[in-house]
Amino acid sequence: MTNKQQVDHALSARKNSYSPYSKFRVGACVLCESDNFYIGCNIENATYGATCCAERIAIYSAIAAGEKKFISIAIASDSDDFTLPCGICRQIMSEFSSELEIICANNQGEYKVYSLNELLPHSFKL
Ligand code: THU
Repeated sequence: MTNKQQVDHALSARKNSYSPYSKFRVGACVLCESDNFYIGCNIENATYGATCCAERIAIYSAIAAGEKKFISIAIASDSDDFTLPCGICRQIMSEFSSELEIICANNQGEYKVYSLNELLPHSFKL
């Protein structure tokens, strides 16, 4: 899958976002070494704290399907700016792969690619 195709999957997953509180829709698409891909969208909750980001939903879906090795994750929202992953999601990504590519898109499907090491250097590990 090309980066552009992966961004398109993230943009369409964004349409399933449940975000009545922030009204900030996010979609994500994680590509696995197996060539399978999994999508996620942000799912909010009235407690706010129980909200889950699109990236984590995509990664957790992949893990629930038996995947362990990830190549890249695309993230997109309605914003004109490139959408970067929050700190918690960066830490979740680092749990599973240190080499991950993070494809950060804007609402037009333009994107910038970062390495996880660039976005979360010196990450916590046990
Ligand atoms: N959100 C994500 O889904 N991913 C991020 O990396 C940043 C934030 C969601 C959480 C919440 O539903 C909304 O965006 C506003 O923070």
